[in-house]
Amino acid sequence: MAGFEGLRYPGRAMPLPPRPQSASRTQMTEYVLPQHANALGSVFGGQIMAWVDLCGAICAQRHSGRMAVTAFVDDMKFELPVRVGEVVRLEAHVTAVFRTSMEIEIVVEGEDATTGRRWPCVDARLTFVAIDESRKPTEVPPLVLDTEVVRHSQAAGEARRASRLTPKAT
Ligand SMILES: CC(C)(COP(=O)(O)OP(=O)(O)OC[C@H]1O[C@@H](n2cnc3c(N)ncnc32)[C@H](O)[C@@H]1OP(=O)(O)O)[C@@H](O)C(=O)NCCC(=O)NCCS
Repeated sequence: MAGFEGLRYPGRAMPLPPRPQSASRTQMTEYVLPQHANALGSVFGGQIMAWVDLCGAICAQRHSGRMAVTAFVDDMKFELPVRVGEVVRLEAHVTAVFRTSMEIEIVVEGEDATTGRRWPCVDARLTFVAIDESRKPTEVPPLVLDTEVVRHSQAAGEARRASRLTPKAT
């Protein structure tokens, strides 16, 4: 009998069924403790980056049904700090899907849990590559392009990918 892989990719003739953005949307909430903070009492940038990477990886794995590795991190701008005793909220969604790679946007906000006030912290875009059991890049399902918003998101992601993969002049 064919294994799971054989059933899923019969000679790779069958395209993978598209998956909606909603199927992989991922939220994380982190409480900022002293061990996350720098000498000013705000979260280390590197700690935020680790949470961004984790949240994006979970989203990529939910979309692809595969393990996924981080291939590229776009510029990250840190807008406002989050301090000890406040909350970091992260939300990731797939913005565009290519052959084996996926662009994921992760929006990070600070929150004062006692008042509900929220503020922007970071908006990040990471590219993840799905890998198979041999750790080789493997195809991922396309996005369901059922709304103008998702179609625009896919097209904008394709434009960003072209610029990411263009060698920079030195
Ligand atoms: C990411 C990785 C799997 C790509 O492997 P590779 O041999 O270059 O594979 P390919 O050339 O077939 O590319 C695979 C995909 O990665 C994409 N990719 C490769 N480099 C990229 C870059 N700099 N930016 C964006 N996408 C990139 C390719 O475009 C391709 O996507 P596509 O199939 O959707 O077109 C490999 O470089 C790797 O394992 N890197 C280390 C990952 C890692 O350790 N991350 C940190 C821990 S998770």
